[in-house]
Amino acid sequence: MSLIDSLAVDYLNKIKLKKEILNYYKNKTIIVTGGAGAIGSNLVSCLSKIVKNGLIVVLDNLSANRSQDPFNLTNNPNVLFVKGDVRSDEDLKRIFREKPSIVFHLAAFFANQNSVDYPEESAEVDINGIIKLLDLSVFTKVEKFIYASSGCSIYGSYNKMPLKEDFISMNLTTPYQINKMAGEMYSNYYFHHYNLPVVKCRFFNSFGPGEIPGQYRNVIPNFIYWSMTKKTVPITGTGNETRDFTYVLDLVQGLLKAGYYKQAIGQSFNLASGKETKIIQMKNMIDKVLKQKTKINYVNKRKWDTKPRLLASISLAKKLIDYRPIYKFEDGLLDNLNWFKENWEKIHNRADFNPGKSSAVK
Ligand SMILES: NC(=O)c1ccc[n+]([C@@H]2O[C@H](COP(=O)([O-])OP(=O)(O)OC[C@H]3O[C@@H](n4cnc5c(N)ncnc54)[C@H](O)[C@@H]3O)[C@@H](O)[C@H]2O)c1
Repeated sequence: MSLIDSLAVDYLNKIKLKKEILNYYKNKTIIVTGGAGAIGSNLVSCLSKIVKNGLIVVLDNLSANRSQDPFNLTNNPNVLFVKGDVRSDEDLKRIFREKPSIVFHLAAFFANQNSVDYPEESAEVDINGIIKLLDLSVFTKVEKFIYASSGCSIYGSYNKMPLKEDFISMNLTTPYQINKMAGEMYSNYYFHHYNLPVVKCRFFNSFGPGEIPGQYRNVIPNFIYWSMTKKTVPITGTGNETRDFTYVLDLVQGLLKAGYYKQAIGQSFNLASGKETKIIQMKNMIDKVLKQKTKINYVNKRKWDTKPRLLASISLAKKLIDYRPIYKFEDGLLDNLNWFKENWEKIHNRADFNPGKSSAVK
């Protein structure tokens, strides 16, 4: 069993989902777009333990620098992996032919800097992709459409912490942020116009096993990678900036509950840890576990990076779907480091820091 799978089993044992939730998922056919991705692979792993007689259909074009094999997706008898694209009508017809009752839409052109470098492609994937999926979901009468939105994106640089759901910013600084907001707006349109039961989950700064480091990836896998390869870590800013780092399995808990609770339909809510960690604290914790002192190179912030703090309110998710994140940041970081150690060769081969494009490290 892979570490992702065994962590999923432990996690499900710890959170003890109610019988009604387990029964709800037992026989379902579920589409997960982006199911080979950082969050998707953990979602698929958990779903594969609770969907007994149903099927999990993963659609992923494997563009995020990975293959499905590190996560043993295809070894799982109730997982059907379809290599395909959310922009392709043919690929979408293939997955909807399985008659899904639930769609978790996680595929995205990830993330800010990637969208700055490739704005048109990011809109094609994120905006055209969700329209096609919403449309087919109406046509095939799915019971739930759960959209992976982004709280880090849609609140802009609003600075009243914790961030609550009623604030929405019009001052977004990257195509990715605009696309994630557009995804919510199209979900609202299909909800109002066609009564499609949509649920919009606003994630904050996911981390944990499953995310391969790279040019366009998040700060934690990249810091772990650079630290393990004894490189210097670039800090964009002072290091006192904060993020609401959320352990990936806590996000999966939120997704599983969002798929079940009727109260979630039509709603948008934050899924986060509800805690704030400084970038420099995170770096020091990695050093402590690796028993080393990685050098820091302080560099200028990227133009779009306008958020000194991120902290989410999670009270709406608690109220609507009984969301209860259980991971301490330090424990999640330890799991993340163990996953790196266990899969080092694969991760090292796939880590993609393509020189010549804009990024935090030139
Ligand atoms: N990771 C975070 O911190 C975070 C925060 C807020 C929101 N989100 C959202 O959560 C979702 C999952 O994020 P993640 O961190 O797992 O990202 P990820 O990049 O690891 O996963 C996305 C997956 O989608 C696939 N994909 C990309 N383009 C595709 C296409 N055209 N057709 C089919 N598949 C395609 C990629 O290959 C990848 O496996 C995304 O929608 C993202 O916007 C993530």
